[in-house]
Amino acid sequence: MWKEVRAIPIEDPSEIQTLYQIETETFGDLAWSWGMLEGELRHPFSKGLLLRLHSQPLGYALYRRQEREGELLRLAIKPDYQGKGLGKYLLSELFKRLISEGVERLYLEVSEVNQRGLKFYERMGFKLLGKRENYYKWGEHARVLYISLKEVKDDKGCY
Ligand SMILES: CC(C)(COP(=O)(O)OP(=O)(O)OC[C@H]1O[C@@H](n2cnc3c(N)ncnc32)[C@H](O)[C@@H]1OP(=O)(O)O)[C@@H](O)C(=O)NCCC(=O)NCCS
Repeated sequence: MWKEVRAIPIEDPSEIQTLYQIETETFGDLAWSWGMLEGELRHPFSKGLLLRLHSQPLGYALYRRQEREGELLRLAIKPDYQGKGLGKYLLSELFKRLISEGVERLYLEVSEVNQRGLKFYERMGFKLLGKRENYYKWGEHARVLYISLKEVKDDKGCY
């Protein structure tokens, strides 16, 4: 079934309804608001990939790209579909896309409380760059991670 899953570039701001639904389902109280998503989609450096099984949206990635650097802002797989390899697929598709656009490093921030997310990113080859104390609203610390995209293909076999 997963062979039919596709990661499609988000070109159309009208996809915001789809993103908002995935966002609230996945993050609950910590979800970005409609306004935050809309603002991000309108940012000139912002891009997204939507994961679909036929017409069914299963997840998405939102990122910014500027010259040789990228920043992953949001990555979500709907709860019922987590732990089945889809996050890995979506991130691998994003890596391919960024590499083809000449991006060399991808950064992200993740809460220290989000052990699942941290393990996932570690498994995908991200490394620790530093910490941001009390970064989030409820005082949680953030870890700043990065991956050198030149090393992805050979070392991690993500493709
Ligand atoms: C984090 C998230 C994107 C991962 O996607 P996923 O589809 O659940 O993960 P996958 O099934 O693709 O797992 C990929 C790899 O990470 C590992 N992994 C995933 N969850 C893990 C966990 N809880 N503990 C340890 N390893 C884990 C898997 O074992 C797998 O490694 P493998 O290839 O060696 O088997 C998804 O769970 C999610 O949307 N979570 C909620 C939102 C979130 O935290 N987003 C990230 C921060 S913005």
